[in-house]
Amino acid sequence: MVQTRRNFISSSCKICLLGAAGFSLTQSIGCAPTSSVYKAAISNGNLNVPLNLFEKNALQIVRPAGWYYDVAVQKNDDNSYTALLLQCTHQENQLTVTGTGYHCSLHGSDFDKQGNVRKGPAEQSLHHFETSVDNNVLNIHINNFKP
Ligand code: FES
Repeated sequence: MVQTRRNFISSSCKICLLGAAGFSLTQSIGCAPTSSVYKAAISNGNLNVPLNLFEKNALQIVRPAGWYYDVAVQKNDDNSYTALLLQCTHQENQLTVTGTGYHCSLHGSDFDKQGNVRKGPAEQSLHHFETSVDNNVLNIHINNFKP
């Protein structure tokens, strides 16, 4: 009886470990292809992002200090930059990166990499921020914008 119980516990633990590993793998595969979040303070109405961040990944997620919403910054093929507020224009849910754009998990809206609506219920494009480059730093012009 003791042997049977030991075997049961041993088998259960192995199944739990396999389940946990499978869950982690599933989560990893299901994760959107994002870079890590770059935290930036707002200084003189700008978010300042070092250009060298884009050498490894053309898409950077920037988290302005004190904001709930992140800003997705995409380096485009023509070396311009697109900075989009990751706030759904339907009912303000935080968006996730999909690899081909941005998705809202609340009601299913999809946006392309330029922030245009691909699928509703959202009807308006994502909020764009102007950008400029100065001394190897990308300035995202937030000005007085508050999401
Ligand atoms: S809040 Fe994003 S689709 Fe409704």
